[in-house]
Amino acid sequence: MTSISISSTLLNGAATESVGGDEMIMPSSSGRSVKRNLSDWGGSSGSGSDSGNLFEDVDETAEEAAEEASDAAEEAAEDAAEEAEEEAEEAADEADGEAAVSAANTAAGEDCTLDYCENQVSSDYLLRYKVNVPDGMTLESCDETCTISFESIYDGEAWVSVGFSTDGRMIGSDAVIGIPGDVPLKYTMTSESNDGVQPMSDDLQTLTDASVEFTNGQTIMKFTKLLKEPGEIDINSGDNIFLWANGYSPTLGIHEGFSSVNVNLASGAAEVRTAPNMTAWLAHGIMAFIAWGLLVPFAVKFSMFRGLLPKNKEGLWFKLHRAFNGMAFSLTIALFAVAVAYTAKEKSDHFDYPHQMVGLSMFIMTFLQVLAGVFRPHAPESGEKKTMLRTAWEFGHRLKGMALLAMGFWQIWSGIKWYSYKYGVDGSGVILAYWVWLGLMAALLVVGFVFSMLRIRNASKATTTSEAKAEPETAQNTLRGSAIESSHAGGEEEQT
Ligand code: HEM
Ligand code: HEM
Ligand code: HEM
Repeated sequence: MTSISISSTLLNGAATESVGGDEMIMPSSSGRSVKRNLSDWGGSSGSGSDSGNLFEDVDETAEEAAEEASDAAEEAAEDAAEEAEEEAEEAADEADGEAAVSAANTAAGEDCTLDYCENQVSSDYLLRYKVNVPDGMTLESCDETCTISFESIYDGEAWVSVGFSTDGRMIGSDAVIGIPGDVPLKYTMTSESNDGVQPMSDDLQTLTDASVEFTNGQTIMKFTKLLKEPGEIDINSGDNIFLWANGYSPTLGIHEGFSSVNVNLASGAAEVRTAPNMTAWLAHGIMAFIAWGLLVPFAVKFSMFRGLLPKNKEGLWFKLHRAFNGMAFSLTIALFAVAVAYTAKEKSDHFDYPHQMVGLSMFIMTFLQVLAGVFRPHAPESGEKKTMLRTAWEFGHRLKGMALLAMGFWQIWSGIKWYSYKYGVDGSGVILAYWVWLGLMAALLVVGFVFSMLRIRNASKATTTSEAKAEPETAQNTLRGSAIESSHAGGEEEQT
């Protein structure tokens, strides 16, 4: 038996979390199973996961891969390991280009026509395949008549799948999906949603010896398929890209684990592919944190704690509020552009999941918030009364600003989750650090909110008192009195 062990450190982790009963299912392109908990992400840890820190991952690719390569070297021939190390360096260089190959996962194999080749593609998913060459033929010459037998063995009860691809992407690939209790069927995949994953028509269901069952804690799918079928992705005698995925449960929906694997059926060599554009998405996340985790919260605090800023610098809070939010706005445009461009580059659907949808809403709302900030109705000059329009604007600006802040806080958390999911890295350390930061920011904002409320109450009390006092006087006097009181009551007011 030819056994190809894909021995990435990334394959060992298996984090299991649940969301009030609902497990959020996210793919792990490295092959690691990652079950995520939307409500308790920070608290969970991968059981037995030795994967790297989220933000160290890009830089560590070469190191990790080199380490893995030397492990592989012990198992495989020495020259195969040398080749793997060289490729590992290339893989690191390629980290931001097309799907990089985690070369260290390569192990020299043998002809998959002789016996089953085996790939432990994740800690809980074993993929086996063997090409059946009719007597008197060779793998190279048997295009129309050869078949390939697959076995997927998953430790758990869930739908399992094997896919056939030309580029490693789910969209545009064909798959065989086995749902325990049903017969495995061939599917087309036209989008990353339930609607896009549909069985082929009955006349195209040509699998033989197909079964899928849950026994002894494992879901085992078996089927035999022709290598080449009209209108479908060919399985070649040489290089192929296979996909694999498993769900969280037998109900077909977004997967818990997934990745693509380069497989050469003649040599038996196999390499797990790493999802591309890691650096671009990291840059998107870092810009998002600087804008919405740092600049906007401080910009709002400058307004809230304006009374604590140096009194001799008039309007300082406003200048800081405007400058910090201005920078955050520029970063939001940049991070949004990166997200849309790379989503398009990856041929994924736009704005199809909560992080993506909230991101779009935030972009629009930020645009409006800044626009309304710039073209605001001005605060009353000294001696003037605040207009209804200004009062309404202040209320709306505050409300929308606080909503945006809350959305930003959530969005950063969900972004880190997506990133971990997409690249199969352990984000729990970063999430924990983020929670600590968030706690600090939130505490300051709550205190700031109380400050703000007191300032507003004092200002309106001052107005009422001065109006009452000024009752017998002329309207002009009343206004002047109000302005004087107001500036006394809230010396920090400095409305702009
Ligand atoms: C209804 C079922 C499915 C849903 C809703 C779904 C959804 C998704 C989503 C949202 C992504 C993007 C993750 C990211 O941003 O990186 C993705 C990626 C992926 N999916 Fe699926 N998927 C389904 C079924 C399958 C099946 C049956 C396979 C076949 C083995 C598969 C293989 C993959 C692979 C290899 C990727 C990573 C490459 C890529 O981004 O295109 N998926 N899927
Ligand atoms: C991302 C963009 C922005 C957000 C999230 C935001 C958010 C906020 C929040 C939450 C407050 C209320 C703070 C408090 O209670 O004291 C506030 C106040 C204020 N903001 Fe902004 N703001 C943004 C942009 C701007 C811009 C671009 C301007 C003007 C150029 C501006 C002008 C003001 C003014 C004048 C106030 C004081 C209103 C008052 O006294 O009630 N803001 N902002
Ligand atoms: C708070 C501000 C954020 C905003 C406004 C935002 C916005 C977006 C948008 C609009 C998209 C989808 C673009 C499209 O569908 O065309 C997206 C995708 C994504 N974001 Fe963010 N994001 C934010 C924070 C983050 C953070 C902190 C990370 C962490 C690294 C992150 C990681 C990702 C990833 C990995 C995707 C791609 C998901 C996929 O493969 O489909 N985001 N973001």
